[in-house]
Amino acid sequence: MTNIIPEIPHAFVTGYPVGHSLSPQIHRFWLKKYNLAGTYDAVEVKPENFETFINSLKKKGFCGGNVTLPHKEEAFRLSEKKDQAATRIGAANTLWFENNILCASNTDGYGFEANLDDFAPGWGGNAALVIGAGGAARAVIYTLEQRGFENIYLVNRTRARADKLAGYFGHQVKARNWSEIDDLVPLADLIVNTTSLGMTNNLIKKDSEPFIHLDQAKPSVLVTDIVYTPLMTPILLQAKARNLNYVDGIGMLLHQAVPGFERWFGIRPVVDNELRQEILGKMGQ
Ligand code: ATR
Repeated sequence: MTNIIPEIPHAFVTGYPVGHSLSPQIHRFWLKKYNLAGTYDAVEVKPENFETFINSLKKKGFCGGNVTLPHKEEAFRLSEKKDQAATRIGAANTLWFENNILCASNTDGYGFEANLDDFAPGWGGNAALVIGAGGAARAVIYTLEQRGFENIYLVNRTRARADKLAGYFGHQVKARNWSEIDDLVPLADLIVNTTSLGMTNNLIKKDSEPFIHLDQAKPSVLVTDIVYTPLMTPILLQAKARNLNYVDGIGMLLHQAVPGFERWFGIRPVVDNELRQEILGKMGQ
């Protein structure tokens, strides 16, 4: 009689650099919690080696993994089957094999939505103000479009990038000048910062003028930031000081990990306060 040793699933996160990624901590927390055999490791890959890395996934024994900056567009291009979210966003952050075919999804929009569902159930509205026009903004706009927002005002320091992104999406997305931010605030049911403004390593001087003023905001507005280092970014501190609803960005990171974990390890994991505290602890917050 032969002993059949079940194959242990091996997953990865790749980026350049990748050392800062919290994904290994999230997936290892779940592997332990659900008592599953499996591994999840960070693999740093330079852009020029990315295609070779993708082509060697099966040989290396990986069942799939996460992709972070700067490889998300390449991961999308190199995968053979792409779901609707990846296709609409034009970038992939989650890869897996189905019948030996490399499949891709983008779960950033899902993570964004699930985080707001968690902390602001029933969120929504007619108008959103999205600040920033990078890769993260694409995932946010995709979600807001799905969620039925009719007016998505997009402001970016570099106007041309906002125009390009607005052109890519439907007529609901309207590019506006950076200088118009405060005029758009009173219209918004949701305000989302997707820029790196407010990040710990992009420190704004304490006494410097905020890039947005929330004094004319609707009392029912929901304010959120996709930056989570620090957890309370300047825009969230301002919302808090004005007694406005706000949701911090760490939950987006936690929730975007859920669909990948389920594909690789077979269980849909739960994002709860225990995980949140664990990851905040690792971040030193
Ligand atoms: P990501 O993929 O994480 O969104 P990105 O593509 O580099 O990253 O985009 C970063 C966003 O932050 C952009 O909207 C960028 O504005 P520009 O397109 O004008 O570069 C914005 N950003 C970064 N630093 C900024 C600053 N000091 N002031 C205003 N916007 C800033």
